[in-house]
Amino acid sequence: MFIVLEGIDGTGKSTQARRLADHFLARGRTVVLSREPTDGPWGTLLRDSASTGRLTPEEELETFLKDRRQHVTEKIAPALAAGHTVILDRYYFSTMAYQGARGFDPQEIRRQNEAFAPVPDLLLILDLDVDTALQRIGTRGDSANQFEQRGNLARCREIFLSLASEPFAKVISTATTPDEVTQQILAALGT
Ligand code: TYD
Repeated sequence: MFIVLEGIDGTGKSTQARRLADHFLARGRTVVLSREPTDGPWGTLLRDSASTGRLTPEEELETFLKDRRQHVTEKIAPALAAGHTVILDRYYFSTMAYQGARGFDPQEIRRQNEAFAPVPDLLLILDLDVDTALQRIGTRGDSANQFEQRGNLARCREIFLSLASEPFAKVISTATTPDEVTQQILAALGT
């Protein structure tokens, strides 16, 4: 089982990814919980760029792809081959959304990624309006880091929601409490 959590900053992906991992662990499954950008060299460069200044659009897209290729080769593909449950906090749908918001064609980004990155069994799109999301990350739109500007997040949210009709996708509203969100996610799993 390969599950991906996506959504704009402030939707609570990391908390829910951890809870989902605990859910499977409690049922005796072996779980690999990971995230993108990764903690590898490319991922670290990208995370640092949020505060030090973003790369050019082309360099940024290229670097997310390098980070993901390494992630797929070294971690995701081997874990799936070994039969582990893989849970990701962000994946190539974030590239469609964030680099799409920066001007690239989201469908072209999708094609580029699906040429090497396995498609998940379940994509959970955690959805929240941008103002509430910005409040939750404790920042106003004008003081947010460069990935988190209000207009940028609004465009990202639209791109995430454009994936709602995919057969493997499920939109979960995170306007409620974290416990209610977890219940919704477990319901989406059919457990
Ligand atoms: P994030 O998950 O917020 O990392 P952290 O919780 O450590 O701050 O990711 C950092 C930013 O990277 C986030 O604002 C979204 C952005 N991002 C992209 O622009 N493209 C991508 O492909 C991915 C995976 C993330």
